[in-house]
Amino acid sequence: MSTQVPSAGQIPDVPVLRALGNRRSIRYFDPDREVERWKIETMLQAARFSSCQGNINATEAVVLQKDYCDIWDDIEDCVSGFNVTVINQASHLILWLTNLNAWYGRAIDGISTVSLAGAASKYHGWNYEFSMTQTLPRLMSFPKERTEMLLRFETGQAAANAITAGVGLGLGNILIAFGRKPGGVEKALGLPDHYRFTWGHAVGYPLEDANAGGQRPRLKMEALFSENAFGTPWKSDPATVEMLKEKGLIQEQAPLPGRFEQMDRIADRFGRDKGVISFPVREIQRLMADPDWDFGPRMRERARWLIDNEDLPEYPEEMRQMFAKLLSEHGIDTAKFLPAEQ
Ligand SMILES: Cc1cc2nc3c(=O)[nH]c(=O)nc-3n(C[C@H](O)[C@H](O)[C@H](O)COP(=O)(O)O)c2cc1C
Repeated sequence: MSTQVPSAGQIPDVPVLRALGNRRSIRYFDPDREVERWKIETMLQAARFSSCQGNINATEAVVLQKDYCDIWDDIEDCVSGFNVTVINQASHLILWLTNLNAWYGRAIDGISTVSLAGAASKYHGWNYEFSMTQTLPRLMSFPKERTEMLLRFETGQAAANAITAGVGLGLGNILIAFGRKPGGVEKALGLPDHYRFTWGHAVGYPLEDANAGGQRPRLKMEALFSENAFGTPWKSDPATVEMLKEKGLIQEQAPLPGRFEQMDRIADRFGRDKGVISFPVREIQRLMADPDWDFGPRMRERARWLIDNEDLPEYPEEMRQMFAKLLSEHGIDTAKFLPAEQ
């Protein structure tokens, strides 16, 4: 593992808006390039300085390298099938952990540190006696489930900080689901009961273009964000969008020209199956007609091309009832999310 740390001046600065815009979930890593130890440390440092409730420091991590740790096979057994190649070709795997006892154990010291640091002020109503007799005992008597929900959010923040730092240093990142063997990661790591394994995170040098073929589509701003009242859409301002394009937060939407060819070349190189999965015509048409999505011309063109040129699968009618049931259990409009019956 390389140890030489460059001087600060040798590291290119990436403005934060651009780093956020450059981020993609990278799924093709160069198996021959190891990420420098200082870059991993930088990511962990970024995580350490993410915001955490009452400064309790509940987020921890174990960093694994396939060739240096003894538990790789156990870890690999836990990862969802479509993630196995990803973790094996990445340089490092960060397992983000949430320590629930930080809440119960460090609540007092956390507040004490922020008061010493000049952050818990009387101006805002902080009061030592009230904290010790009311606030802290109340917080510390939260049931574990509530604490878990609160602290997992925090771990997400830490991971996001680490990812942004990694992107700024030219690294590829992806969060990885470990759904195959519930409890398996905790067991492989030998975690005490009060630890939760929150998420896996693979890091490495991208083998695909770092832009991964363009920014992935999202729902429109108006479909996601409200102003002053829930359901009153936050109106996106075209001038802000233009400015953010210039700053690099908003980038060209996928799929950029050459994307599919590049994926096939990588598949060839490693002797793996080529191509991407495709959905039936009716599903693609339904999606393209959904006004919530912010689809640009490249997504629409790809959809049209698929419909015109590819032998697309049939909709699995036998699954319709199941999807309808699952949607309706949550009161979700099946007409919006399922294709019309034929
Ligand atoms: C919590 C979380 C878990 C994820 N798990 C996986 C995963 O197991 N495998 C995978 O290929 N992508 C995973 N992703 C990546 C998402 O699929 C990806 O973020 C999404 O498709 C949008 O692409 P982008 O991240 O490039 O913008 C995960 C993302 C998040 C936030």
